[in-house]
Amino acid sequence: MKHDDDDLLLINGKPNDPGVDNNSGNRPFEDVLQSSVSRRKVLAGGLAASAVTFLPTVATARWDQDWHKDKRPFWKRRSRLMRFRPVPVEDGNGPWPTISKDYRFDVLIPWGDPIEPDGPEYQWPPNSADQAKQIGIGHDGMWFFPFVDKKRRRGHYLPDSVNNHGMLAINHEFGRNSHVLGKGAPESLEDVRVSQHAHGVSVVEIKKQRGKWKPVKSANARRIHVNTPMAFSGPVAGSDLLATPNGNIPLGTVNNCASGPTPWGTYLTCEENFHGYFGATNAENTWEPTEEQQRYGFSTNGSGYGWHNFDRRFDLSDKDYKNEENRFGWVVEIDPFDATQKPVKRTALGRVKHEGATTVIGRGGRAVVYMGDDQRFDYIYKFVSAGNHRKMIRQGKSPLDEGKLYVARFDDDHTGEWLELTIDNPALAARFNDQAEVLTYARVAADILGATPMDRPEWITVAPDRSVYCTLTNNSRRTEGNAANPRFPNADGHIIRWKDSKRFTGTKFVWDIFIYAEDTHGTEDTFSDPDGLWADPDGRLFIETDGGQQDGLNNQLMVADTTTGDLARLITGVTGDEITGLTVTPDRRTMFINLQHPGNGDPNLTSFPNKREPDGVTVPRDATLVITRKDGGIIGS
Ligand code: FEO
Ligand code: CA
Ligand code: CA
Ligand code: CA
Repeated sequence: MKHDDDDLLLINGKPNDPGVDNNSGNRPFEDVLQSSVSRRKVLAGGLAASAVTFLPTVATARWDQDWHKDKRPFWKRRSRLMRFRPVPVEDGNGPWPTISKDYRFDVLIPWGDPIEPDGPEYQWPPNSADQAKQIGIGHDGMWFFPFVDKKRRRGHYLPDSVNNHGMLAINHEFGRNSHVLGKGAPESLEDVRVSQHAHGVSVVEIKKQRGKWKPVKSANARRIHVNTPMAFSGPVAGSDLLATPNGNIPLGTVNNCASGPTPWGTYLTCEENFHGYFGATNAENTWEPTEEQQRYGFSTNGSGYGWHNFDRRFDLSDKDYKNEENRFGWVVEIDPFDATQKPVKRTALGRVKHEGATTVIGRGGRAVVYMGDDQRFDYIYKFVSAGNHRKMIRQGKSPLDEGKLYVARFDDDHTGEWLELTIDNPALAARFNDQAEVLTYARVAADILGATPMDRPEWITVAPDRSVYCTLTNNSRRTEGNAANPRFPNADGHIIRWKDSKRFTGTKFVWDIFIYAEDTHGTEDTFSDPDGLWADPDGRLFIETDGGQQDGLNNQLMVADTTTGDLARLITGVTGDEITGLTVTPDRRTMFINLQHPGNGDPNLTSFPNKREPDGVTVPRDATLVITRKDGGIIGS
């Protein structure tokens, strides 16, 4: 099912309604960019000569030249990186996953399983107490954090330990009421709590025993959900914008979409469509959205979850809980090795509908975080820490608390600029009182700076040659193009890539478009709606899809060669699902991906991952898939 039909989304209570919240004046910017660059040139990945001359530090040459070498269409090439037999289009449908003949998959931690072996057993529908100790629903971004064996010598890992045992942190993005509760709307606070406890993050200790990965007893395992105490840090912590008249403490994280590890061993989980969980009962006061609330898409019914009818915290018209909604829309840092750590919302990274957070170390040891705001006509952001991340940590500071936040402007000559969201800019000082307001209403600030409205920025990954790739999943509402989003309407999406000056930390960049999904149609390599994305150290790009694929294909995991552009299909999911989340063991011989909302929760479409019971009804469950190559090789090869 195409996930960009708003009406359908509302009926189904899906929170991923991307709609359009950006009614800023930035759309006319498309006119400026209306391309002097021909489509052919964009397809070829050409960079304007001027880009190279004024950006001598950006190493574009290799990327550029390699791309041009092979003149054959990508589907006629045969990458040396991908030797596996791809799943044919005709096999990639139906109620069960299909994987390449050279691979196998296993199922791990389906929704409702206990996070530890002695926890409450799966039952449907769950109760709220059990659900708080079970794997949540809506498996999305995740990361595997290996245990470093205590006996390691001189920094060398003992391979068996790091590749067979670790903490898996996994996001639980959303679950429809019909899927979680077995009814269209909650009828009590208990129902709301079940739904709230099915959201958030699971941190699970997993171990491979006799060839099979399983959760084990753990001092570190925990569930973080909508009622878990949270801390705030950075410029907005302590601001009145985060204080409610009620004085309630900050609780919870929600709609945890993509994620990313940090170089210092923590997990960043990202709050995407948080607005959809709020609504207005208008019981005592008639709620009217502020300009800022409108920009973030708040509405009377939200995405149909109905939490606000029983939990006042999510009622926008309840004056005691004014500002509660400002506590969501952040990137949250979690320590996967310390269950007592209070998750921290890092406000320096801004408040948007965060898809993911991808951290790399740039010049001077600074931490650089790339982030997409997934909505039609919204933006791509970057945070750069104030100093060397190691030094900041030694000083007892988080590298994510002090630094600069930027938003991207893509120019039509294939260069671009990162625009700083700072109160020191007079244009922002004219609108906001302080940096806390700039960050809390980052979307509004980015509108003022003239950022480029994109076709729904989803995942971002950094390839070994320092090019940064971002999926732009689709935009059915685009009526005119700009250079970076030239197709309209853009039903199938594309992948853009850029290289920043000063080793990730600079404000200039050059960019080109890696691939348009539409151009794969009619070939064996067809895909649409790219979403999850990960670049491996060899130059492979793993592309996961979320949306209507061609020819009856289920959502899928494609592997691309970033040098040749060659593509191959590694696995397809089940009817009505989404393929998302991606992490590997350090040896890259095990990959974990997620199968989200199988059958959209409809047991008539699939019973995955369980065999049907005699009565023919088994509720499908989101689950992680463990992927290995039959010959034990590197995943993707
Ligand atoms: Fe949660 Fe934009 O996908
Ligand atoms: Ca996504
Ligand atoms: Ca998506
Ligand atoms: Ca999703």
